[in-house]
Amino acid sequence: MTQDRAASGQSETGVGGSTDLPGSIDAVEQMLAAQGYVADRGLATVVFLSLKLGRPLFLEGEAGVGKTEIAKTLATALGRRLIRLQCYEGLDAASAVYEWNFAAQMIAIRTAEASNTGADRDALQAELFGDDYLIRRPLLEAMQPDPRGAPVLLIDELDRTDEPFEAFLLEALSDFQVTIPELGTVKAPEPPIVIVTSNRTREVHDALKRRCLYHWVDYPDFDREMQILTARAPDLAPRLSQEVVAFVQALRTEDLFKHPGIAETIDWANCLLALDVIDLSPEVIADTLGAILKYQDDITRLQGSEAKRILDQARANINEASVDPSRQDRT
Ligand SMILES: Nc1ncnc2c1ncn2[C@@H]1O[C@H](COP(=O)(O)OP(=O)(O)OP(=O)(O)O)[C@@H](O)[C@H]1O
Ligand SMILES: [Mg+2]
Repeated sequence: MTQDRAASGQSETGVGGSTDLPGSIDAVEQMLAAQGYVADRGLATVVFLSLKLGRPLFLEGEAGVGKTEIAKTLATALGRRLIRLQCYEGLDAASAVYEWNFAAQMIAIRTAEASNTGADRDALQAELFGDDYLIRRPLLEAMQPDPRGAPVLLIDELDRTDEPFEAFLLEALSDFQVTIPELGTVKAPEPPIVIVTSNRTREVHDALKRRCLYHWVDYPDFDREMQILTARAPDLAPRLSQEVVAFVQALRTEDLFKHPGIAETIDWANCLLALDVIDLSPEVIADTLGAILKYQDDITRLQGSEAKRILDQARANINEASVDPSRQDRT
């Protein structure tokens, strides 16, 4: 049986010509904001272009800056299915594309032998290598037709895989078709919306990057992190939110083994809410540091007078910002 699910009508205008794709960069920003994701102009621009041109989007950046979240948010906002391929060392094509269900095949063979019906061996073989015994892994899953439109395919933390898998992926991303010897060729009716992320623990090969639009997801500036915190921890009092963000921003300028990401800012805010904290103090910071710093050396560095020094600096930054006319204009 040949399953040639070749494309019938991929639009020239981008991902399947879907009508619900945002028509401008502003529309992308609004669409993401409606889901609580605050994108800066640069990110909104590459997302728009990636959707418009049907090109994979390659996002690199530090941990906890919103790389994975953008794929989840896009899927929700566009009403598409999210398919996630979590990368790890040793990931191979079988785990990424498809496998045969050997255990079920063995049971079927044993059952056929036991019943001894003399059934046609060819028929049995055809059945064993049919749809029922095929386990679809994320890449094959992303090639299946879906009435909601092409899914969002998140290839997360690509830097964790090894180079042979990267080379394999390069091919998969170029034509979205896979040949299963026993079944035939499966081709996506329209290419999925692909988001690839990396924490840059190693450089991803140029060939793969060249196929994608690239964006470095940076830590947000004060204003954007305030917007994110307001969206994600709306119950935190505005003054405390400012202190939290200013403190985290100041921490990112310190010489630490691992700087806190946005995820840590949100976690910390939720911890402070749970403890009914109304004001930051060196004592509160010392008690809750585990929400923002995850290495003992970093935590030790902030013991004693260091936390107070950074808190004073954070407060000075807030006061400076509030008398800066250019920032007042923006608010
Ligand atoms: N721009 C943003 N707007 C709203 N929330 C955000 C934003 N960026 C990050 N977040 C929040 O931070 C959390 C962590 O983000 P995410 O898991 O996407 O980070 P990541 O970059 O994939 O990190 P890692 O490299 O550790 O996987 C998200 O669950 C989300 O709540
Ligand atoms: Mg992630």
